[in-house]
Amino acid sequence: MKPDFKKEQAWWENKAAGEERDIADEAVNRALRWREIERSLKGVKTIAEVGAATGAFTIPLAKRGYQVTHIDFSAAAIALAKTKAKGLKNIEFTQANAADLRQFRDRTFDLVLNMDGAVSFCGKDAKKSIKETCRICRKKLLITASNKAWLIPVWVGSTFPKFKKLVPAVKAMIKDGFWHYDQHPHNKKIVPGYFGTLQAFLPSELSALINANGFKVKTCRGLGSLANLAGKDTIDFVKQNPRAMETFLDLCEDFDRDIMPGGPGTKQRAGLIAIATRK
Ligand SMILES: C[S@@+](CC[C@H](N)C(=O)[O-])C[C@H]1O[C@@H](n2cnc3c(N)ncnc32)[C@H](O)[C@@H]1O
Repeated sequence: MKPDFKKEQAWWENKAAGEERDIADEAVNRALRWREIERSLKGVKTIAEVGAATGAFTIPLAKRGYQVTHIDFSAAAIALAKTKAKGLKNIEFTQANAADLRQFRDRTFDLVLNMDGAVSFCGKDAKKSIKETCRICRKKLLITASNKAWLIPVWVGSTFPKFKKLVPAVKAMIKDGFWHYDQHPHNKKIVPGYFGTLQAFLPSELSALINANGFKVKTCRGLGSLANLAGKDTIDFVKQNPRAMETFLDLCEDFDRDIMPGGPGTKQRAGLIAIATRK
């Protein structure tokens, strides 16, 4: 059940153009991540983002003067990011697979981000992606990954009505947090088109993997669960009202921290966040 990285890469190439299209509660997820990134910037000069796509995070960080390395395996995403980076001298682009970052030496970057894809979509190699992300990081780490507490209801909702019974993919998601296109005969019928592989985590599972790679996890929890639970009308309203959005983001942070740290996270984008520092 290894990931087929050629197919994964081709899948992402096709998604590059739509990468920054904002659907459902995506804006909340992104804004909550920005808050965490802001809190991590003290003492940081060099930043790498693994799976940086079209530069939604790397370009603004470079514009603020950080020395940024933008890593992705999609040539199309990198090409789009490069057009946005015109004139910036402090950003470098590398096409590489997150599961193998051998071109970078150990502890190269003060802060490493790996958000929303380049861990979970490595499937069985998610551990390698985490290991590589940790290895190239000198000080601080911010990782987001797929959240079992959200993937399980999504899997149930997309298979129970269709097959009128619980299919093995749901049980696999509950047991191992794992999906692979070739895993069970039903899998190819569940998702139209190609949907290769995915690894989802509980907070305890993601924390353990990061801690095992020389880091100490400070926070690992659902990201933006309130946005998921509060529903579309609330999200539509706060997206139109910047002040309401800030209040809502405060509430989301309180909710994630005090009410439901193991919550599902947002509907869109990886809803599990881990923040760690080197031991
Ligand atoms: C959904 S985008 C996330 C972009 C950005 N990190 C963010 O959070 O907004 C996921 C990106 O990860 C990249 N990616 C997925 N798997 C990867 C892998 N194994 N190695 C490198 N990049 C990968 C994809 O090409 C895509 O550009």
